[in-house]
Amino acid sequence: MTESSQSLSKNALPQGTVTLLFTDIQGSTKLLRKLGTSYGPTLGTHRRLLRTAFAAGSGVEVDTQGDAFFVAFRSADKALRAAVASQRALLSHEWSHGEPVMVRMGIHSGHPTVIDDNYVGIDVHRAARICGAAHGGQILLSQATAGILSTAGDGDLHLRELGVHRLKDLEHPESLFQVEARDLPTDFPPPSTLEPPTNIPSYASSLIGRVAELEDLEEMVGQDAVRLVTVTGPGGTGKTRLAAALALDILDDFPNGAFFVDLSRAQSDAVAAEIADSLGVSIDGSPSTVSALVDHLSAMRILLVVDNFEQAVGAASLVAELLQRCPMLTMIVTSRVPLAIDGEHQYALEPLGLPASSTKAIVERSEAAQLFVERAAAVRKGFAVTADNASAVAEICRLLDGLPLAIELAAARVKLFSPQALLDRLGDRLKLLTGGRSDSPVRHRALRTTIDWSYDLLSPQERAFFRDLAVFSGGAAFEAVERVLGMDDDALDLLTRLIDHSLVRQHEGLAGDVRFWMLATIREYSLELLESSDSRADLRSRHATYFLSFAEEASDERADRKTPAPDLEVEHDNMRSALAWFIKRAEAGSENDALLGLRLASALGRFWYTHGHAVEGSAWLEQTLALNSSAPI
Ligand SMILES: Nc1ncnc2c1ncn2[C@@H]1O[C@H](COP(=O)(O)OP(=O)(O)OP(=O)(O)O)[C@@H](O)[C@H]1O
Ligand SMILES: [Mg+2]
Repeated sequence: MTESSQSLSKNALPQGTVTLLFTDIQGSTKLLRKLGTSYGPTLGTHRRLLRTAFAAGSGVEVDTQGDAFFVAFRSADKALRAAVASQRALLSHEWSHGEPVMVRMGIHSGHPTVIDDNYVGIDVHRAARICGAAHGGQILLSQATAGILSTAGDGDLHLRELGVHRLKDLEHPESLFQVEARDLPTDFPPPSTLEPPTNIPSYASSLIGRVAELEDLEEMVGQDAVRLVTVTGPGGTGKTRLAAALALDILDDFPNGAFFVDLSRAQSDAVAAEIADSLGVSIDGSPSTVSALVDHLSAMRILLVVDNFEQAVGAASLVAELLQRCPMLTMIVTSRVPLAIDGEHQYALEPLGLPASSTKAIVERSEAAQLFVERAAAVRKGFAVTADNASAVAEICRLLDGLPLAIELAAARVKLFSPQALLDRLGDRLKLLTGGRSDSPVRHRALRTTIDWSYDLLSPQERAFFRDLAVFSGGAAFEAVERVLGMDDDALDLLTRLIDHSLVRQHEGLAGDVRFWMLATIREYSLELLESSDSRADLRSRHATYFLSFAEEASDERADRKTPAPDLEVEHDNMRSALAWFIKRAEAGSENDALLGLRLASALGRFWYTHGHAVEGSAWLEQTLALNSSAPI
């Protein structure tokens, strides 16, 4: 039994939402070797300093082993402050061996179960793994803790996002935050997670089927000679989903990591910058973005997943150049069309497997029906294939040709329609198209028809809202939706309904912030509606003005800021489209818009410069300045 748990009773451990802090001395074995017999007193001093700080935050010692503490707190804020106080105490103490004892700390909040005077549960493992990922002197937090803190960002404490990391033995990757506080060091190497770094998206729902496809692709990418695999298929086939799953499966083969680059809103000439962004490569001091990328990638074993390349086919030669100049680079590209360059290995992705017959057992096992059932159950609890509905479910999947996106849209309607009613309605529309063939153009039209049908079923208010949402590029936070679309109290309700219909998606950012966005195919559809609507100009102006204030507020450097500065990087696409709008209006003669454009470019100046977008930023600045050159400022 460990020394501290002897005096603890089961009641002493806090229950409910608990914040767990693990600490561990970095290099303790080395320290022991170096200090010999004086290691004991040094360890004792370290314990005394930490215990004092933990007690001040009402921390309860759960376990202490050798150089490691496990302490529980009722309050996340107190845990954070106790960790900061203990790091300060360790740093300022005059150690007899002349250098500070460096302790790594990891904090995570959850609901562990108390059994026999100890905590049990995945949250305990998670907290311990987070501690293991920290360096001596560093405090790392999980997203769960970051999300319940009330003090983050207030003056002396600050959280720095370190991105998503996969921790040993834990299935779901963790967003890690570094605590920064006065007097404490801030520069550390990347967290020592055992798996390579990655920003590949992980999905809340599980991947359905695709076992053979993943096997084929893994074998393909595993060959030394294969450096570029393009997964092709029409919109909504599941290319992105499959590429992401593949990348995570083979992550271990890429010690320098796997990175996801979304090109869905990029032009060909912005592809290099998008890749640099995703890799966190700064282009400062390099003659060009491409040479900065080559410098970074030439000695790295990295996997790049480049999504939606059809948007930027003009950049195929860039891909060829990167592969040629970076011999250890591997790329997986998703695209509706192949890149058509040397060395490309195309993998034409088929939709999900269809049921071979309409009996319940066969339908249940087919991939397409599994997706249908999973999505239907999300809007209608308990939905399952039954002997009664099996043939309707099978028929819907066949009509939709196993196309995942179309299946999702149809399944979302199970809230209102029984599978048979859904089949009748959708079937009428699709019969005109399919005529028994199932090649790609037909598939494409089948999806279009399904989106049409989903759209037609919306109320007039939902339709307008869905159309107007296309004004955002790269998604939007709720506040932006509310302010730009001006729906006041109805906005959340409308968003929720569109999410239910699978037309809008919801995504939680690293700091617990929620963003709303649309899959590329769906946004293209709503954008078409927006472009031909009367409200377009008004809406674009409201969007641009909103993001102008957003940028000006974010670039305001007054010291009395109460809330953390908003994240401009996630809004970069919205900023670009706001700039493009101001410029368009200015070119049509609006002096006011010329000025607003210049104000926006100026507000973004520092962000562009510090976030590796200097080249793009100066182009915008030049353009907006030129439009103002005749007007007095
Ligand atoms: N195997 C699968 N399991 C679960 N969901 C899937 C699967 N395949 C696709 N989906 C879902 O279907 C939808 C469309 O898939 P995805 O976005 O990957 O298609 P895509 O081929 O990349 O489309 P686009 O060409 O428009 O980018 C997504 O919501 C995705 O999560
Ligand atoms: Mg995609």
